[in-house]
Amino acid sequence: MKYHIEKNSVQETLIIPLFGRMICSEHYPELFSDPSADRICSMLDYDFSEKRKLMESQAGLFGALEVAQRQYDLAWEVRDYLRQHPCAAVVNLGCGLDDTFSKVDNGKCLGYNIDMPDVISLRNDLLPPGEREKNLAFDLNDESWMDEIDASGGAVFFASGVFYYFETEAVRALLRKMAARFPGGVLAFDCCNRRGARMMTKTWLKGAGISDVSALFSLDEPKQLENWSQDFASVRTKSYMRGYRDIYPKVNPFHKLMIHFCDSLVKMVIVQITFSGKGEASCDH
Ligand SMILES: C[S@@+](CC[C@H](N)C(=O)[O-])C[C@H]1O[C@@H](n2cnc3c(N)ncnc32)[C@H](O)[C@@H]1O
Repeated sequence: MKYHIEKNSVQETLIIPLFGRMICSEHYPELFSDPSADRICSMLDYDFSEKRKLMESQAGLFGALEVAQRQYDLAWEVRDYLRQHPCAAVVNLGCGLDDTFSKVDNGKCLGYNIDMPDVISLRNDLLPPGEREKNLAFDLNDESWMDEIDASGGAVFFASGVFYYFETEAVRALLRKMAARFPGGVLAFDCCNRRGARMMTKTWLKGAGISDVSALFSLDEPKQLENWSQDFASVRTKSYMRGYRDIYPKVNPFHKLMIHFCDSLVKMVIVQITFSGKGEASCDH
């Protein structure tokens, strides 16, 4: 049985990182291994032939490296939080078909994967929740998803390739509510400047035939986030491609050039926000 993906929708954007992670496992096995991306792609009723042609060009391979590295970076942030809060809630915002929870699971934490109802219904078939894990069907703009999170052991949130599709005001409202609701929690997400968001719409989305979706949210200066909420204790950023492990020495000269471009001109970063307050760290759940 093959599972259908609705074309030309925000949900279809989940194909790009999923397929990118699979391509990276094929081309850079020493850096990335994602057998579940391979398994899931083979179960989708989706024509990957055009996407493979695009992604196996030098520019396309760089895009694949970006999405695979982004997953690595965000998993690093989650593991880092779990060292102090081993029983925390690990919340994947706009999860698509990303299985980071199974990669970071320490046997004690709780996993929550949130996405739109049609994506969650697909996910329930392809990536059914494991022990201590839940797939939740919510629009993130509907704050009632927060009621579902057991943050008694702390909470670490991540959003991978998601906020680009939100209006800036919607991101601000969401982050403010999360900070007020989950004291001591941490949120990590990827982001780039306006030039990067424009390029993403032109190259990735239009190139993938997703013409009705635009990248909306961008940050020219991530430090500006510090003024978004009095419940933010700190905001820090790290380079997407070199901040968590340096893949620079392992890639070809064209990709080295692209890494410089992304760092200096597109400002691709992982943002990490710590919410004020002590928060919880119990393991009683
Ligand atoms: C580019 S995909 C990224 C998927 C996944 N995070 C990954 O890295 O593989 C963006 C995801 O965000 C989800 N999304 C976008 N807007 C959303 C919203 N308002 N509420 C819940 N999910 C949303 C989409 O359905 C899609 O699965």
